[in-house]
Amino acid sequence: MAIDTLPDAAGYQPAAAFAGPDHPIRIITREIALDDRWDASIRERIRSTFDGLAPGWSEDHVNPTKAAPVSDAVERGGLSLGSARWLELGSGTGAGGKVLGPRVDEYVAFDLSEQMIANDPGDHTCQVRGDASALPFTADSFDSILCINMFLFPQQVDRVLRPGGTLLWVNTMGDQTPIHLPVDDVVASLPGEWTARTARAGTGFWAAVSRA
Ligand SMILES: C[S@@+](CC[C@H](N)C(=O)[O-])C[C@H]1O[C@@H](n2cnc3c(N)ncnc32)[C@H](O)[C@@H]1O
Repeated sequence: MAIDTLPDAAGYQPAAAFAGPDHPIRIITREIALDDRWDASIRERIRSTFDGLAPGWSEDHVNPTKAAPVSDAVERGGLSLGSARWLELGSGTGAGGKVLGPRVDEYVAFDLSEQMIANDPGDHTCQVRGDASALPFTADSFDSILCINMFLFPQQVDRVLRPGGTLLWVNTMGDQTPIHLPVDDVVASLPGEWTARTARAGTGFWAAVSRA
């Protein structure tokens, strides 16, 4: 497994202790990615939780510190921008779209929670509601996929990402993020051979993961 680790971005600060390895969301995040654990009752629990959190979400989650890993990945991640077609999974209230939407021709913001979508200003993005475990897109339809603090559904990412495409994986509080996977677990969960470039920025990290 080839992982290229870049030096920390200027201003990087580790997140304060918040959600250690025993946190229930940390556990379920691993199970979804590595053991294919997902069903209708989990989906409903997650959907209603995030519907409830949506009205105050931007206040705490759309800010320069949270945006820092995505901005650093734009600078150093070797991403396809410009004419590229991007899909963001678990787009919430638009933190990722705010940084990347203006830089790419097509940006699809996809989320399970109707209320998250309702609270996303949607500038520069097209919004779709649905479940990332069963994406309503044809194979190979995106150049890049962004996940910020989002569950990983490896088979779906592998299916809709074009050959040579990139998954940009971001945890804005590093290993204190409740929905967290370290880079080696992201790479290990994806079918086939993948390589990654990663760096810490803001209070978290990004990893640009591409097919080898
Ligand atoms: C921790 S929040 C992160 C939101 C946003 N990426 C941000 O950083 O502000 C996780 C988001 O993933 C969405 N989500 C969870 N499971 C999902 C699924 N199966 N399909 C699509 N979205 C999902 C939630 O509704 C929520 O908006």
